[in-house]
Amino acid sequence: MLIRNQLNSTNIVIAIDGTSASGKSTNARLVAQALDFIYVNTGAMYRTLAWHGLQKNIDVHDPKAVATLCRRWKTTLECVEQTVRLLVDGYYPEKEIRTDAVSEAVPHVAAVAQVRRWMKEKQRECLRFGNLVMEGRDIGTNVFPETDFKFYLDASLAERAKRRAAEGVQENLAARDRRDSQRASAPLMIALGAVVIDNSNLTPEQTSAMILERVRAKLKPA
Ligand code: DC
Repeated sequence: MLIRNQLNSTNIVIAIDGTSASGKSTNARLVAQALDFIYVNTGAMYRTLAWHGLQKNIDVHDPKAVATLCRRWKTTLECVEQTVRLLVDGYYPEKEIRTDAVSEAVPHVAAVAQVRRWMKEKQRECLRFGNLVMEGRDIGTNVFPETDFKFYLDASLAERAKRRAAEGVQENLAARDRRDSQRASAPLMIALGAVVIDNSNLTPEQTSAMILERVRAKLKPA
């Protein structure tokens, strides 16, 4: 259950993966708050690199250009108010990474193998901040496959589209899921041993309560 990595950390990681708009962010935040763990949004990390590429006028459809951009990237990880952020030249582009241009560019950036290796290293480095709730697409399968705490969230396409529309975002979720699931490098899939939760008809409070119940049961001394 405890993870020992190259940093010799014994911190715990709760991996929350799933499809777009399946409630990963909301639930990961609720779980992190309830347990006083640190919240890591790995999608925001990929978005930050995509934004950086657009700023530099890189062709995000060119994997070689994206790999070079990533290799040369000078970034720092910081933990503020129990949330990990990836900084670009000391700046956290919180609003900028949510634009349509970044949403369009990010799946291409996230499909580059060198980028995924780089991200995995950075994401594992987050253990130095403490116990983590980390959300993404490949946390249970690729970033922390050794963790005992794996969850996979999903909801019907109609429900997920409704949630995105309520946020004011019109997005082709089916196309995005397809791209995330079909890429060669660390595709979105259900990790071995993951607890799958379809929350189409559940509130975030109900979903996070299910996650917390499982986590607490495993943490309880036998
Ligand atoms: O969760 P999100 O929509 O902010 O993620 C942005 C993109 O990054 C999305 O196309 C999936 C990708 N991503 C990924 O490939 N692996 C992760 N661990 C997190 C996100």
